[in-house]
Amino acid sequence: MRVVFIGPPGAGKGTQAARIVDRLQIPHISTGDMFRAAVKAGTPLGKEADGYMKSGKLVPDSLTIAMLRERIAEPDAKRGFLLDGFPRTVPQADALDAALRADDMKIDVVLLVEVPDELIVARIVGRRSDPDTGRIYHLTFDPPPPELAGRLVHRKDDTEEACRTRLGAYHSQTAPLVPYYESHGVLRRVDGVGEPADVTTRIMGALGL
Ligand code: AP5
Repeated sequence: MRVVFIGPPGAGKGTQAARIVDRLQIPHISTGDMFRAAVKAGTPLGKEADGYMKSGKLVPDSLTIAMLRERIAEPDAKRGFLLDGFPRTVPQADALDAALRADDMKIDVVLLVEVPDELIVARIVGRRSDPDTGRIYHLTFDPPPPELAGRLVHRKDDTEEACRTRLGAYHSQTAPLVPYYESHGVLRRVDGVGEPADVTTRIMGALGL
């Protein structure tokens, strides 16, 4: 199955993707995680992406599309994948369609995880992640065990200011993907508000599983 998650920053895409891929046995491909790994490793791609990410802007399509194309060509993606954070612009969606079409494949489902803007900032500024396991926590909504406190990471773009820029980028550049995928007949909407386990149940239902 080839699945795409779209939704505003902090909608819970990463949290839900981690739960879903275990059940579907497909790789979780997050362009945000790939860029953060490149920044950490100090690669040329990471150096170029870093400034955009810190300020909350999208990394240019040319860099993002090339990185994603390489990733979905890897053997583990042949039987399906869950894309989290890609596509984020109409040119990225067109490039994805073209790359898949060349191999006689297509996206099966696009899940739009909906969370109102007024809940987003609190989710973002309270997020912490465990660099060893990739587990995502929230200081209030999903508190980490105290013994992990010393190693948890607070993302550089998880400030209120960068979050507002990211929300602006979502509405201006990513929201046009909603009518785009509606017109392809693959869009399904999921309410992202409530307990994470309830959101997972809704997602599994939307996937017909
Ligand atoms: P990326 O890493 O993709 O960030 P994002 O889309 O902004 O999404 P987030 O990771 O912030 O949120 P999420 O929806 O995964 O929420 P999470 O589950 O963590 O991208 C970062 C940057 O990389 C971009 O700004 C851009 O610069 C660049 N980039 C990446 N892809 C790109 C692309 N395709 N094109 C161009 N540039 C690109 O949850 C958030 C918090 O809420 C957590 O603390 C969690 O515990 C909590 N939470 C989750 N679910 C719930 C719930 N149900 N109730 C309460 N709290 C909850």
